[in-house]
Amino acid sequence: MNILIVDDERKNLKLLEVLLYPNYNVFKAIDGTSALDILNTNKVDLVLLDIMMPGMSGYEVCSVIKKNKSTIDIPVIMLTSLNDDESQVKGLSLGAADFITKPFKLEVLEARVKTQLSLKKAQDELKNFNSKLKVMVKERTRELEVTQEVTIECMASLAGYRDIETGYHIKRTQTYVKELAIQLKEHPKFKDYLDDTTIEMLYISAPLHDIGKVAIPDAILLKPDKLTDEEFAIMKNHPVIGCEAIAKSEKRLKGNSFLRFAREVAVAHHEKWDGSGYPYGLKGDNIPIPGRLMAIADVYDALVTKRPYKEPFSHEKAVGIITEGRGTHFDPEIVDAFLSVQDKFRKIALRLSDDKTK
Ligand SMILES: [Fe+2]
Repeated sequence: MNILIVDDERKNLKLLEVLLYPNYNVFKAIDGTSALDILNTNKVDLVLLDIMMPGMSGYEVCSVIKKNKSTIDIPVIMLTSLNDDESQVKGLSLGAADFITKPFKLEVLEARVKTQLSLKKAQDELKNFNSKLKVMVKERTRELEVTQEVTIECMASLAGYRDIETGYHIKRTQTYVKELAIQLKEHPKFKDYLDDTTIEMLYISAPLHDIGKVAIPDAILLKPDKLTDEEFAIMKNHPVIGCEAIAKSEKRLKGNSFLRFAREVAVAHHEKWDGSGYPYGLKGDNIPIPGRLMAIADVYDALVTKRPYKEPFSHEKAVGIITEGRGTHFDPEIVDAFLSVQDKFRKIALRLSDDKTK
């Protein structure tokens, strides 16, 4: 291990070097400034520091060592001929680990140095262990996040197999939701809700918005024509079916999990601002925000993509229809956010076009 000796008297430096050299690598400094230079350019495990020196005193050097992030953990043993409590208290308050009074016995010096170096070694090992642990926790957390995302993607794509909304519908709607949420994160009404974590949770849970459709019979789900009133009544159950399925899993996870967002987006994406939506006819701010965001994303996607019963509408026409629904179908403030980012919607629709899945 490396020990730095700082003393303005060359004979003291020599003496200490001779005493320590067989067991340790020794650096020597004749004053405070050269001591700090050595500390800046070398790995030092312990400093033996004389207090009374011309120029920078030992106290000043110790203070600099303990203020610097890269040297703060190096133990400092002060060497002093001042055998009084006051100077020891001063040194300790500046961060010194120990004191040795001159003239010292070789055995005392060796024992104190050994103790401080053992402590330093234990501290270094703990620090290394902690940083390894941090990396491991980060890796495990990321693995869990990926597992969540993959599970959701898998569930959502299974639901999609039976649906007429094929291709990149899931990917597009979750991206639209994210764009709207990012646009609204500074909005006074939404800023407390839409922090970065919530936006990420919304993004990964959005694909589950239509998961309840797995329980809708093929004859209704895949019907290319307009649904009868009776069929539509059955179709209107998909938000509640999805919500209940997610709620069961959510109970097992306890606490504030991403499934809360999945449940809210599933149950509320067909609610309308004026209360005329389904399944519960919720009105205005009573509609959970994830549902209000998905309402616009889902409708925009239905409008600009080809369906068995219709050709795709132009982006401009879709923007016109959504603007008309401001304050009736959709949350007016989310429509305003949509209008601000509509060009991003157009680009997402092109980039993730269903034609690319064929
Ligand atoms: Fe739906």
